[in-house]
Amino acid sequence: MEAFRLDGKLALITGAASGIGTGIAEVLAEAGAKVVIADIDKAGAEAMAERLTSGGHKADAVGMDLTSEKSVVGAVAEVVARHGAPWLLVNNAGLQDRQLLFDETVSGWDRTLDVNARGPFLTTREAAKAMVAAGKGGRIVNIASTALINMIAKGHAAYAASKGALAALSTATALELVAHNITVNTVLPGGVATPGAMHAKGPPPEGPAIRRPLMGMCEPRDIGAAVLFFATPAARYVTNQQLAVDAGWTLS
Ligand SMILES: NC(=O)c1ccc[n+]([C@@H]2O[C@H](COP(=O)([O-])OP(=O)(O)OC[C@H]3O[C@@H](n4cnc5c(N)ncnc54)[C@H](O)[C@@H]3O)[C@@H](O)[C@H]2O)c1
Repeated sequence: MEAFRLDGKLALITGAASGIGTGIAEVLAEAGAKVVIADIDKAGAEAMAERLTSGGHKADAVGMDLTSEKSVVGAVAEVVARHGAPWLLVNNAGLQDRQLLFDETVSGWDRTLDVNARGPFLTTREAAKAMVAAGKGGRIVNIASTALINMIAKGHAAYAASKGALAALSTATALELVAHNITVNTVLPGGVATPGAMHAKGPPPEGPAIRRPLMGMCEPRDIGAAVLFFATPAARYVTNQQLAVDAGWTLS
C-alpha cells in the first residue's frame, strides 16, 4: 500500500479554505503529505492549516488571489522558498455563480473565467516551473465539473466555458509536461453541498438541476479520494485523464 501514500510530498491546493478543498486537504494530509492551503481568504486558509496541524498533520497557508498574476507568482515563490517545490498542485478554487445567457455581462463572464481558467493557467505555469527545476517529476490535478459531460443547470454559460477551458488546459499541459514526469489529470465533481454551491448567485436553479444524483450528494472527501489517486505513485503512468465523482448524476 506504500504506492498509495504521499509521505514527505508537498501538496499545494488552491481554494482549500472552504468546501471541496478542505476535503482534498484532509485526505492528502492523512496520506502523509505536507499540505499548503492557498486561498484569497488568508484567514480561512490559516484556520484550515491550523486545524490540520492540531490533528497531527503537516500544513501551512499562503494568501493567493488567482485573479492577480503578481499574487500567484509571489505566493508560489513564497511556498517554494519555505518548503521547496511542490510535488502536487491541485487547482481547486473556483466560482460557481450562474447567469442566464441573455442576462450575462462581460464583467460576469470575465470574473468567472479569471478565477476558474486564467488562475489555473498561472498556478500551473509557476508551480510546474518549480517542479521542473527540482527535477523530481510531479502531479497536477484540476477540479472541473460534471457540467462538462452532463449540463446540470441553466445559467452555466460562463461556468461551463471556464471548466471547458480548464479541461483543455489539462490536456495541453499534460503533453508539455510529460517529458518531465509530471502528470496532469482532471476530476469532475458532481453535487457537493459546499458554501460555494449553496450560496452561488444567480436565478433559481431550473432544468436538469432538479434531477437528484442517484446515490445522494458527494462529500468533499469523496473528491479528495480521487485527487489522492492521481497524486500517488500508484498513478505514475496515468496522465491526461478525467474522472467524474458524481454519485450517479450522469445516470439520472
Ligand atoms: N460544490 C459543487 O457541487 C461542485 C461541483 C462541481 C465542481 N465544483 C468545483 O469545485 C471547486 C471547489 O468548489 P466549492 O464548492 O468547494 O466552492 P467554495 O466556494 O466552497 O470554495 C472555493 C474556495 O475558493 C476560494 N477562492 C475564490 N476566489 C478565489 C481567488 N480569486 N483566489 C483564490 N481563491 C479563491 C474561496 O475563498 C473558497 O475558499 C470549484 O472549482 C468548483 O467549480 C464544485
